[in-house]
Amino acid sequence: MTAYRLTKHPILAIEPVDEISFLWDGKELTAKRGEMISSALFAHGVRVFGHHHKDGAPQGIFCANGQCSQCMVIADGVPVKSCMTPVKEGMRVEPIAGLPQLPRNDRAPTMNTVETLAVDVLIIGGGPAGLSAASELGRRRIDVLLVDDKNRLGGKLVLQTHRFFGSVDAVHAGTRGIDIATILSDEIRALPSVDVWLNSTAVAVFSDKKVGIWRDEKDYVIVEPQILLVATGAREKSLVFNGNTLPGVYGAGAFQTLVNRDRIKAAERLFIVGGGNVGLIAGYHALQAGIEVVGLVEALPECGGYKVHKDKLARLGVPIYTSHTIVSANGDEQVESVTIAQIDDAFRPIAGTEKSFSCDTLLIAVGLDPVDEFTAKAREYGMNVFDAGDAEEIAEASAAIFSGKIKGRSIAHALGATDEPVPDQWSRTADILKSRPGSIAVESVPDREEGVFPILHCSQEIPCNPCSSVCPRGLISVDSDDIRRRPQFALDGGQCIGCEQCVAVCPGLAITLVDYRRNPAMPTVTIPYEFPPGGFSIGDMVTVVDSEAGYLDEVRVEEIKAIARNDRTALVKVKAAKGIAKRIAGIRIQDPQVTQSLDDVQARITDETIVCRCERVTAGEIRALIGEGCRDMNEIKAVTRAGMGACGGKTCSLLIARLFREQGISIEDVEDNVKRPLFVEVPLGVLAGAKEESDD
Ligand code: FES
Repeated sequence: MTAYRLTKHPILAIEPVDEISFLWDGKELTAKRGEMISSALFAHGVRVFGHHHKDGAPQGIFCANGQCSQCMVIADGVPVKSCMTPVKEGMRVEPIAGLPQLPRNDRAPTMNTVETLAVDVLIIGGGPAGLSAASELGRRRIDVLLVDDKNRLGGKLVLQTHRFFGSVDAVHAGTRGIDIATILSDEIRALPSVDVWLNSTAVAVFSDKKVGIWRDEKDYVIVEPQILLVATGAREKSLVFNGNTLPGVYGAGAFQTLVNRDRIKAAERLFIVGGGNVGLIAGYHALQAGIEVVGLVEALPECGGYKVHKDKLARLGVPIYTSHTIVSANGDEQVESVTIAQIDDAFRPIAGTEKSFSCDTLLIAVGLDPVDEFTAKAREYGMNVFDAGDAEEIAEASAAIFSGKIKGRSIAHALGATDEPVPDQWSRTADILKSRPGSIAVESVPDREEGVFPILHCSQEIPCNPCSSVCPRGLISVDSDDIRRRPQFALDGGQCIGCEQCVAVCPGLAITLVDYRRNPAMPTVTIPYEFPPGGFSIGDMVTVVDSEAGYLDEVRVEEIKAIARNDRTALVKVKAAKGIAKRIAGIRIQDPQVTQSLDDVQARITDETIVCRCERVTAGEIRALIGEGCRDMNEIKAVTRAGMGACGGKTCSLLIARLFREQGISIEDVEDNVKRPLFVEVPLGVLAGAKEESDD
C-alpha cells in the first residue's frame, strides 16, 4: 500500500489493490493492475513528471483526460500520455528530460491492410449523452458502434459520487453519478445491436466521410457510418496567471479522476479557482476524500453554480471568496502556496488586498469548452452528423443524458426506424434541465413548534425533484410542469411521519427534519451527512451552522443512522435548543485553523505568465505580436510555436483568443488556425496499419 491511496471513503468502495511493479526513473515502485501511469505516480507522491526542453520548467498532470500532453513520460522508450497509458508489469517509465529521443528501431514494421467497417451509427464517446443515445437506438435494433477512449463506460459520470439533480423520471435524479453510469452501461450491454469498443480513440474525420479509430491501441480501423453522433464531452478551460503551469495546478476534472476513479489522495491541502458547479462539487469530493480545502475564489460577486452546492461547501467550513481572483501559484518545483486578491469592477486585482495560503494543489474550475472539433470537421466534409451532451452545449450531466436520448430518437427517425419524431415535451424537459440556476427566495421557516416536519433549505430555482418522489404521504410537491420551481412542504396537508426519506435523498443535502415530539424545548434535528465515519461519535459535540454557514451552536450527537435504504447518506441526529433547531442546516467538519492565511504574502517571481504550456510561450510574446499588427493565429503559431505543441492547440487557442479580446480586437477580425483532420496524436505508422513487432 502506498502513502497516497485512499483507505476510506463514505461513498466509494475501497477494494484491495492487486499490485504490480514498474520502474520510475530507475527506482522500483508498485502500481495497481490496470491503472494509468499518472495515477500510479501520484500514489507514490510523484507530482513532477519531467522538465520542459525549452526552459527546464517542471511538468506535471493537467487534464488527466488525454486532452493535453502535460503528463507525458517515456514508457519503455516511447513518449506517452501517462494519464491514458496503463502501467504494465516491469514497465520502464522515465521522466521527460529535454526532447524525447525517437525509439531505436531499425526494423521495417509489418504493414497490415486497414479494415474499413460500415455501420449505421457511429457514436464517439461513452459518457452520459453517448450512452443514452445508444440505448435509444439499440432498443430499435439499429446497428451502433460506440467507441470510447477510456477502459470503462460512463465518461464523467464515473467521477461523480454525489446524487444528481434533475428529474427522477427523465434522468435518474437522486441517484449518484457513479451509479447512473452503471445503470446506463448495463442498459446498452443488453442491446445486441450495440457494439462497444473501449480504449479506442477516434483520431480523425476525413474528407471521404470516414472516421479513423485506433481500436484498443492495437489496430487502426476506418469506420464509414451512415450517421455520426459526436458525444465527446468537454475539456476544461485553462487560465493565465503566474505559476499556472506548476505541477500541482490542474483541472478539477483531473482531480476527480485521480480521487474518485483511481482512489488516490491527490492532495493534502487544496485551493480552488472557480465557483461554478464543477469547482463547488470538486471541493465537496475533496473533503469526502479527507483532503483539506483551504478556500475557493470566484471572480464574480456570486458563485455561478447551484446555491445548494455553494452552501453545502461553506457549511462544511470552506471559505468562499467572491469578487476575488488568483494572482499566483507559488513554488519552485511544485505548488507550495497560492496568492489571491480582491478585484475591482474591471476584474483587476486591487493592490494591498493580496492574501496567501499554504497548499499543495490548485484546482482550476473556470468552465468547460465543448470538444467539438469532430463535429466541425464532419460538417465541413458534408457528413450526416449530430452532436449531443457537452459536445453540443455545456450543461449538467443530467441534461447530457436527456440530450443523448433526444439525439438517439432523432437519428432513429432520420434512419426511418421509427415514425415517432422527438416529442415536444422532450424538448421542453431538455430546456429545463439545461437552464441556469434561477432566482433565490428568502428562506422561510414555518412557525410551528410541535410534531415533526422537514425544513427545506432549498431557496433557489433549479431543476430538481427527488424530494417530491419519496414522501410516502405526498406532502412534498414540485411543480410537475416545471421542476425548477422550489419544492413545497404542505404543513397542513397531513401528518408527516418523520420517515427521513426526503432528508436522505436530497442531492443538495438541503433538507433537515425537526422532531418536537419527545422534547418540545430541545427537539431532535436530523442532518444528512456524507463523510467517512470516525469524524465524531455519539455523545460528541459538533458545530452546527445555518444554511449559509453562519455559526449557531455546539450540540450533542444523539444518533448516527447509516442504513442501506439511504444509499450511503448517513443521518446524524442532534439535540438542539428550539430557538435554533429549525435554522440548523449542516455540521461544520473543517477546523477554521485549516483555512487561515499565511502571515506574509507570497509571490512567485516569473518573467511572464505562460499561455501555450506545450511550447512554453508567454503572454508577453503573443501580446507583442498583436501589438505589431498580427491578426492571424497561423502567424502566431509560425513565429512563436504557440499552438504547435503536443496538444494541438487545444489548451492555448482560447487563451490566445482572449489576449486578442483584451487588446480590444474582435475575434471575428482574426484569421483562425487551419484545422487539420487529425485531432489526436497517434504514432504515424498506426495510420498505415503498421504492426509493432514484439521483441520476442
Ligand atoms: S498548449 Fe498545447 S499547443 Fe499550446
